[in-house]
Parts: sequence; C-alpha cells; structure tokens
Amino acid sequence: MGKELNMARITASVYTSHVPAIGAAIDLGKTGEPYWQPLFKGYEFSKQWMKENTPDVIFLVYNDHATAFSLELIPTFAIGCAAEFKPADEGYGARPVPTVIGHPELASHIAQSVIQDDFDLTIVNKMDVDHGLTVPLSLMCGQPQAWPCPVIPFAVNVVQYPVPSGRRCFQLGQAIRRAVESYDEPLKVQIWGTGGMSHQLQGARAGLINAAWDNRFLDRLIADPADLATMPHLEYVQEAGSEGIELVMWLIARGAMSDVAGSGKAPKVAHRFFHVPASNTAVGHLILENQ
Ligand code: DHB
Ligand code: FE
Repeated sequence: MGKELNMARITASVYTSHVPAIGAAIDLGKTGEPYWQPLFKGYEFSKQWMKENTPDVIFLVYNDHATAFSLELIPTFAIGCAAEFKPADEGYGARPVPTVIGHPELASHIAQSVIQDDFDLTIVNKMDVDHGLTVPLSLMCGQPQAWPCPVIPFAVNVVQYPVPSGRRCFQLGQAIRRAVESYDEPLKVQIWGTGGMSHQLQGARAGLINAAWDNRFLDRLIADPADLATMPHLEYVQEAGSEGIELVMWLIARGAMSDVAGSGKAPKVAHRFFHVPASNTAVGHLILENQ
C-alpha cells in the first residue's frame, strides 16, 4: 500500500468533441450568442470541476487533422515527448491560447512501458497541436493565461485509412493505465478522449447527425465499454458519418479506467452532456471519475 501511494494514478477520464468553430466562438467572444449559449452552458459544470479536480498531468488523446502530419507521414499512434507544443496555424493564424507545456519524463516513461507492452508508438519530439487538442482544453479550462497543468499529447490516426480498431484502442488504454501506475511519482493523471460525436464533413451525406446512435454510444461507453470496443469501423461510418470514426479515441480513455482492469468499481458519472448541433457536429461530453 505504501508503494502504491508513491505511484502515479489515473483519477478521471474526460470525453468531449473538438469542433473548431467552438474554439473560434471562444476566441472571438461569441459564447453568449443564442446559437452558442446552450452549448457552453453544458460545460459550466466541467470548468468548475476542472478547478476543483486539477490533475498534475493530462494525457490528451486526440487526432491531428493533417496539420502536424500529412499524407507524407501517417503515424497510427504518436506520443508527444517534447517540453512544449505550440498551437498550430490551421490557415487563419494560430489560436490565441497558451502554449501547451508537456511532461517529457512521464511521456518517455509511458512510451517505454507501452512499447514494451507491444504497442508500437511513434515518438514525437517537435509538433504543433491543432484544434483537436486545443478546443477540448478551452472547453474544460476556459481562457486562462496558462493551461492549469502539463499535457501529454497523444495523436491517433483517424483521418487516413487504415485507422486503428476500437478493440485496439481499448487495449491500448489498458496499457497506458499500466504505464501510468508504474511511474514512480505520486502524480494525479487525467486521460481525455476527444473528437466525435456523429458528423460527416463532406460527400453526399455531409451534415449527417445521428443523436439516437450517439446517446447509445454514451450509454455503452459508460456501462459496457468492452462490448462497445467490438464495434467495427463500418458501423461508425454508416451510423455516425465518416468523421464519426473519431469516436474510437474515446475507447483509449475508457480503457484506462480502473474498472476495466478489474481493480476498481464502475466509474462515477460526474457529468454527461449532449447537444446538437455545433457547426456540423453532434457534441457529446462525459466526465468519469475512478472511485
Ligand atoms: C468540424 C468537426 C470536426 O471534428 C473537425 O475536425 C472539423 C470541423 C465541424 O463540425 O465543423
Ligand atoms: Fe475533427
């Protein structure tokens, strides 16, 4: 027991969409407008919760949208081991948000542990981070001068096929939990799964949203993630649209919770929110606490 007290642990997992227009609404002072108000109301609890439950490190699972990576180089899983990560210029200038401070020591430890646990990660020592990472931080933390703690960016390829299966993501989450729990410093670590929910940005079905399917996804993510992890890609794409596949990233965060390892009770649902639409996307959000 004495040993466990000195080790890092995962305290909670957070799940949220990352729609870039949400970042623009925050940056341009439009959160009070009638279109945006109901969305931001759903995150008021979350911002307070973040203040009361600030971790030592956030392990932030997200996807890069052809910003840092391109078709020239497509890592399936990439872990950010740098000391800092600048907000990327995605075509309209960089977002006016703080530089992301990394945690090279914990990131390197997780890379070592997870790779030895048979998951092949790409090590990234220099990378700008796009809306996939900065919008979730803005939603959870508001507009601080500095983000409240270091962040380890973990990028997943969900843009160019072949993308990893839900099952692999769920297993990877379990390996990340083992890695965190073997780090010899008593850090409180949150793991965030971001992207989704249903949306399709191009093609004949552009604008597709499937609220019933999304809510069933939230139910299953909470109560039976192992079963949800068996869902094939085709169902994500058929039911939740081509960009709905971003949701496999939520299974990484869920796989890192202690009940999955059989070493804890089912997590407490601290917050659940769903809103349609934000831009072209159904917005889903969960906070699950290990207990
Ligand atoms: C939108 C959603 C995304 O996930 C994204 O990466 C870009 C745009 C949208 O709804 O507009
Ligand atoms: Fe996206």
